[in-house]
Amino acid sequence: MNLRRSAIRTFLATLIAATSGFAQTQDKPFEPYSGQPGKDVVWVPTPATTVSKMMDVANIGPQDFVMDLGSGDGRNIIAAAKRGARTLGVEFNPEMVKLSEANAAKEGVADKARFVQGDMFTADISQATVMALFLLPDNLRKLTQKFLDLRPGTRIVVNTFGIDGWEAVRTESAQGDCGAWCSVILYIVPAKVAGTWRLSQGELKLEQKAQTLYGTLTLNGEAKTIDVGRVIGEQVVFSVNGIEYSGRLNGDTLAGTVKSNIPGNWVARRVPD
Ligand SMILES: C[S@@+](CC[C@H](N)C(=O)[O-])C[C@H]1O[C@@H](n2cnc3c(N)ncnc32)[C@H](O)[C@@H]1O
Repeated sequence: MNLRRSAIRTFLATLIAATSGFAQTQDKPFEPYSGQPGKDVVWVPTPATTVSKMMDVANIGPQDFVMDLGSGDGRNIIAAAKRGARTLGVEFNPEMVKLSEANAAKEGVADKARFVQGDMFTADISQATVMALFLLPDNLRKLTQKFLDLRPGTRIVVNTFGIDGWEAVRTESAQGDCGAWCSVILYIVPAKVAGTWRLSQGELKLEQKAQTLYGTLTLNGEAKTIDVGRVIGEQVVFSVNGIEYSGRLNGDTLAGTVKSNIPGNWVARRVPD
């Protein structure tokens, strides 16, 4: 928490330093500056070493469609395009969009790095396989429902500020010249599995908060509380009384294996609401 507070302080300090004593003149070509005001968040660029770590941690490749909301000067999108991904950066400031396009052309990826002027909160992100972001916790909070509506398994990789209440699958630190912005966090969008599921010997009732599962498993009339439960993409794992159930969601069926003294399989079908 302290780390986050100090990161926010650094973010604000950048804004104050940037706005005092800097005036952009009309006749000069557009040049962004760190702390430049933006609609919902200022522009602070992700350091090159952190961009590269984000690409690695999210394992971005030609199979991906990568989006950045608040794409700034286009650096995350350009890096993803260089790895062969299809991409789209959404940026509110039209001058930053033009700059991103010029940067993509300079880097030789104008055909793969696409940018649009738009608002992150209304952008269609439904086709993304990866979101590569550097936003404030409040921005991320407002985007959380959009993230939860992404296809299960979509990777969300962020610079420094995480998504409240979400469980990361990986956290790494970039090396070198990245100042306060070295931390890279990877999340996997969970499938929606909350509800009631019918098993041959009973019933599974699941409640879900992002990747975390709660609830009860009732077998042969005996109800037991789930000790720990997680959803990673379409993968579900929970334990009851030390017995681990792992499985995968396929349509309206959860199926997998039970790890106990007598290993076995389990299948559960979703009970319509
Ligand atoms: C912290 S910067 C991140 C830039 C880039 N993603 C990076 O990692 O270097 C945030 C960017 O969001 C843009 N922005 C602010 N509010 C926005 C909104 N509502 N919709 C789209 N972009 C926005 C700002 O202009 C700025 O370029």
